[in-house]
Amino acid sequence: MQADNRAADASGQRHYQFLGLNLILQGSVLAPRAETELLASQAIAMLRETGEAAPLVIDMCCGSGNVGLAIADAVRSVTLLSADLTEDTVATAKANAARLGLTNRATICRGDLFNALEGQGAEGRATMIVCNPPYISTGRLEGESAHLLENEPREAFDGGPYGISIQQRLVREAPAFLKPGGLLLFEFGAGQERQAQSLLTRSRVFECLDFPTDEEGRPRVAVARLRENAS
Ligand SMILES: C[S@@+](CC[C@H](N)C(=O)[O-])C[C@H]1O[C@@H](n2cnc3c(N)ncnc32)[C@H](O)[C@@H]1O
Repeated sequence: MQADNRAADASGQRHYQFLGLNLILQGSVLAPRAETELLASQAIAMLRETGEAAPLVIDMCCGSGNVGLAIADAVRSVTLLSADLTEDTVATAKANAARLGLTNRATICRGDLFNALEGQGAEGRATMIVCNPPYISTGRLEGESAHLLENEPREAFDGGPYGISIQQRLVREAPAFLKPGGLLLFEFGAGQERQAQSLLTRSRVFECLDFPTDEEGRPRVAVARLRENAS
C-alpha cells in the first residue's frame, strides 16, 4: 500500500481525491489509494466498451465507496450496488453517494461479502463486479506492515493467512451474481498475480482476460469474464 491522498480542511473534516472526485471519510475507513485508480479506470473503460444500456455494477468491499461511485459518476447509465462489512464504511459510502448526487442510482448495503446483497434481487444480473479486497497476509500485517494498523482498520488489510482469503471467496461467490459473460475485476497486491491467475483458472468458470499494470509495470488488477456456459 502506498501513501494515501488525504487532506484535512480547516474544520478537520478529512477529504480525499479519487479519480477527480472529492470525497470524505467518516470514522474508521481506509483512505483510498492512488493505486486503486487503476482498477476504477479499467472498469470504466470496459463498461463503456460493453455499450450496455442499463448495466448493474456491484462494488464489493466498497470502503468509502470510491471505486463504485467513480464508475457511477463516469457512466451515467450505471445502477450501483455497493457493500462492505463495517458500519463506518457503509455510513461513509452513503454520505459520499449523497455528496455526488448519486443516491438515486447507488444502494449501499452492509454485510459479509455477497450476503450483504440478500433481498436486492441482484443474482445473475450484474454486468460487472469490482472489488478492492483486503490482501495482506495476517503474518505480514503483524510484522513488517504493522504500521498500516496505526490509523486504519484491520478489516481493510487483513487477507488471512496467505493474503488471499477474500479473493478466494470472491471468485467462488461472484458467479451467482454475474450475467453470463459478465466481468469480474479485482485489485491484488504487488507480486500476487500468479495467485490471482490460479484462483481464476481453477474456478473453471472464469476466463482470464488481462492483468493491467501500474506505472512501474507491476500487474495489480485481474480482469476476468464469466464463461457464457458457466452453470
Ligand atoms: C482494501 S479496503 C478497500 C476499500 C475501498 N474499496 C478502497 O478502494 O479504498 C477493503 C475493504 O473490504 C472490507 N471488508 C473486509 N472484509 C469484508 C467482508 N468479509 N465483507 C465485506 N467487506 C469486507 C473492509 O471493511 C474494507 O473497507
